[in-house]
Amino acid sequence: MNFILTEEHRMIQEAARDFAQNECKPGVIERDNEQKHPTELVKKMGELGFLGMMVDPKYGGGGMDTISYVLAMEEISKVDASCSVIMSVNNSLVCWGIETFGTEEQKQKYLPRLATGEIIGAFCLSEPEAGSDATQQQTTAEDMGDYYLVNGTKNWITNGGHAGVYLVIAQTDREKRHRGINALIIERESEGVVVGAKEDKMGIRGSDTHSIMFNDVKVPKANRIGEDGFGFKFAMKTLDGGRIGIAAQALGIASGAFELATAYSKERKSFGKPISEHQAIQFKLSDMATEIEAARLLCFKAAYLKDLHVPYGKAAAMAKVFASEVAMRTSTEAVQVHGGYGFVKEYHVERLMRDAKITQIYEGTSEIQRLVISRHLLRGTN
Ligand code: CAA
Repeated sequence: MNFILTEEHRMIQEAARDFAQNECKPGVIERDNEQKHPTELVKKMGELGFLGMMVDPKYGGGGMDTISYVLAMEEISKVDASCSVIMSVNNSLVCWGIETFGTEEQKQKYLPRLATGEIIGAFCLSEPEAGSDATQQQTTAEDMGDYYLVNGTKNWITNGGHAGVYLVIAQTDREKRHRGINALIIERESEGVVVGAKEDKMGIRGSDTHSIMFNDVKVPKANRIGEDGFGFKFAMKTLDGGRIGIAAQALGIASGAFELATAYSKERKSFGKPISEHQAIQFKLSDMATEIEAARLLCFKAAYLKDLHVPYGKAAAMAKVFASEVAMRTSTEAVQVHGGYGFVKEYHVERLMRDAKITQIYEGTSEIQRLVISRHLLRGTN
């Protein structure tokens, strides 16, 4: 076991840090206030290789490992969790899903554009009545011979308004329940795709979240991912990896809040000395740093297992549930360290605290992660 990063990992970490500090930081408060999509930054992330980090270079990606992805996600999330969720959905749900389970034709058609940021992707599983209980898909993909006819509404879709392709999970044969669900690649320009209103969110306000309506959308059979009926398992397997990305996002939010709290505690004086010299603050900083380190190790472990191609669902769920709770605790404590200044937008920590909350909700709530972990424990699987 080696806890030291390789030279290559350190370079990726540094590149992501530079991008986050120099490009994302200016304007992050305004984008949050105005719910402004970071379109230019997404373009830049594509140019820098952050949108298809793990995609094989033959499809235009970076061919990197999952540890590299965790490192980059942490650095970008420290500053701008809106940029990092766009990156995470594109990398670990859309690109990974197509590359791992798609046909050669699908890979050639979509991956080069997704990996370079020419287009971004969205993952459409959640519905008004199917969030945690994802088998209850009401969106239908009726088998019409050589195409599917898709009807239904998807909710809370990250990248919804800016995506060029949607990975859509829909029910084809209700009698077969989850085994009658399919995963389809649907292009934004397809007739019948309607982007609904943008959600006005508590956090990650720079990323755009929409409902997407599918009204009699004709989808060629060639756009189905995997065998007929593979859609639910496709979603579950893809989400296992997605949870590593969100765990890394939560880790970044926590470490960003910690860095701000530490710096502030050295500047701010009370009772005649910097507040960092009061034990009350030192204890907070120690607890934050210890929890962040534990979250980081869980993220690395899940990423490492994924790169070894051994089961990692339990490790990913553990990383996500722990890191997201650390993000919430750390960002709340970071606001506390800042006192009144932490409650105003100018100081970044209040945004990190709002952003932290979603990491306990999307790609499976904390309750779902605990369910996944306990099932693995009881079945003796990983
Ligand atoms: N990998 C492979 N197969 C899996 C699997 C996995 N991780 N998890 C379940 N399956 C398979 C099971 O083996 C079973 O297959 P068989 O019937 O053939 O044996 C089938 O799927 C059904 O499994 P369960 O009976 O366990 O299903 P369930 O309904 O009891 O529970 C669940 C499954 C874990 C609760 C699941 O519904 C779940 O993860 N829910 C949360 C959904 C979620 O994460 N939503 C997030 C939306 S996406 C998003 O947020 C993206 C974004 O924009 C940021």
